[in-house]
Amino acid sequence: MLVSAKEMLIKARDGKYAVGQFNINNLEWTKAILLTVQENNSPVILGVSEGAGKYMGGYDAVVGMVNGLIKDLNITVPVALHIDHGTYEGVLKVIEAGFSSVMFDGSHYPIDENIKKTTELVKLAGDKGISIEAEVGSIGGEEDGVIGAGEIADANECKQIADLGVTMLAAGIGNIHGKYPANWKGLDFDALAKIKAATGDVPLVLHGGTGIPADMIKKAISLGVAKINVNTELQLAFAEATRKYIEAGKDLQGKGFDPRKLLAPGFEAIKVSVKEKLELFGSINKA
Ligand code: 13P
Repeated sequence: MLVSAKEMLIKARDGKYAVGQFNINNLEWTKAILLTVQENNSPVILGVSEGAGKYMGGYDAVVGMVNGLIKDLNITVPVALHIDHGTYEGVLKVIEAGFSSVMFDGSHYPIDENIKKTTELVKLAGDKGISIEAEVGSIGGEEDGVIGAGEIADANECKQIADLGVTMLAAGIGNIHGKYPANWKGLDFDALAKIKAATGDVPLVLHGGTGIPADMIKKAISLGVAKINVNTELQLAFAEATRKYIEAGKDLQGKGFDPRKLLAPGFEAIKVSVKEKLELFGSINKA
């Protein structure tokens, strides 16, 4: 059964570790992540961008697939199904479809508009026991057509949004989606400390988990980050393993063209990547 992310994030905040949000794209992705978190007794948040939701056929298909896998694979660790960077309309749709957690990304609106829309969705999600993430200061890089400039969030604006009763808050601290450029300056820990001081108890979310050095991840967790999002890294791992399989000509040997064989190396590579992240984030045996 899907659960809200609220309890797992409060435990993570208090225990000084982070819960991983891993974005899913298809059945192989979802199965690899669910099996790995179960093997490691870790809670998890499955992230679905609006683009990935559309790709998988729609939100009902996603809910059906995830619930089916949880049942068939006997997954007993806490799993939240969460829309990533949802629009207002997208959040309404996934709540209807049965997601257990939502992100409303109003970071591109003027702060008053972000506050107004977030307020409405906090009430709606709260009434249904669904956790809600809000965002201040857009995350840089490009993700499914959503382009952010990598702002540093304003601590006062973060407080205004945190005070609306959101479950978790994503605040830009120089993090970006996708690979980090060679001249990246790193996370802005002064900004993170100010945001933490202003927002109090609200668990903070770090987007753009791919490619952030381990020491920065650990420092971010020590400063109040309780959820870390990872997407691109699993895509790179999957692509690399699949490329090796094809380059070795394995799809041309015997029944190597069978999708169950062709996609197996990518599946295993996702499992390895997820396990590495669970270790780094400290969520193993925290289910
Ligand atoms: P990466 O693709 O950089 O790992 O970022 C993921 C993310 O933040 C999803 O919201």
